[in-house]
Amino acid sequence: MKFWRRTNMLRIGIAGMGGMGWFHASRYAQIQGVELAAIADVRPDRLEAKHAVQINIENKASQPDLSSVQRFADAEQLIAAADVDIIDICLPSYLHAPYTVQALRAGRHVLCEKPMALSLPDADRMIAASKESGRKLMIAQCIRFWPEYQFLKKVVREESFGNLLSLNLYRIGGRPAGWGWEDWFMDPARSGGSLYDLHIHDVDFVNSMLGAPEQIHASGRRSSPGSSCEIIHSIYQYANGPQVSIHAGWSEV
Ligand SMILES: NC(=O)c1ccc[n+]([C@@H]2O[C@H](COP(=O)([O-])OP(=O)(O)OC[C@H]3O[C@@H](n4cnc5c(N)ncnc54)[C@H](O)[C@@H]3O)[C@@H](O)[C@H]2O)c1
Repeated sequence: MKFWRRTNMLRIGIAGMGGMGWFHASRYAQIQGVELAAIADVRPDRLEAKHAVQINIENKASQPDLSSVQRFADAEQLIAAADVDIIDICLPSYLHAPYTVQALRAGRHVLCEKPMALSLPDADRMIAASKESGRKLMIAQCIRFWPEYQFLKKVVREESFGNLLSLNLYRIGGRPAGWGWEDWFMDPARSGGSLYDLHIHDVDFVNSMLGAPEQIHASGRRSSPGSSCEIIHSIYQYANGPQVSIHAGWSEV
């Protein structure tokens, strides 16, 4: 599929203008060489700046000017018709796989919010669609790019404080009830619960810094049957490397 090109900028279309969609939109305005060209959401009010959604991540960027972007009533229409190079998937997690595959097959590169998918077969389908289409797929596992984590990686790699023997990561938060569209975070079938939504950040960071471990021992416990709030303890063991302990979860309050 060919699209008419107006500039030599990389043109972005965001699917899902909730908390993360608006966060990404404000950041594109600060990056040279990219242009936010289209947005989509099933809720028309979400397409207007006065309804921009605030989230629990500090955002020093100012509200983006979206007066000239194309607007679409859902992700499917955006993928089919927007004049963009890259689709940025900021949809609820259970929609990542289907719309990523659709966008790649439509010839777009994809940046997809974490978690990549809620099952291994879905993740495999996304990778296969990227390979078959020759289009890039990147998952927005952001923690590994944060300065504090980059610093940690550097001192570990350079052994600035000696050999790393033990690493403890701790990520506990209140449950995100009422945050998302249709309260999807609180539905384990749509969010994967705190295991997929929160723990995944540290799992990704540890894998990016130390590689895949030899062994993992992990246990998790839901606060009540069917709840998306789990408290998870994971121990990663490396043959000649450190012991890693990751503790994560949402509390019920
Ligand atoms: N990287 C991070 O640190 C971080 C932080 C928060 C959320 N996230 C991830 O970002 C994703 C989005 O989370 P959020 O907090 O923005 O959720 P949200 O519910 O605030 O936003 C999702 C938006 O998608 C829209 N939507 C639903 N179905 C649609 C469709 N078919 N087409 C177009 N729009 C549709 C909803 O109306 C809503 O506005 C999730 O996967 C979440 O896990 C990542």
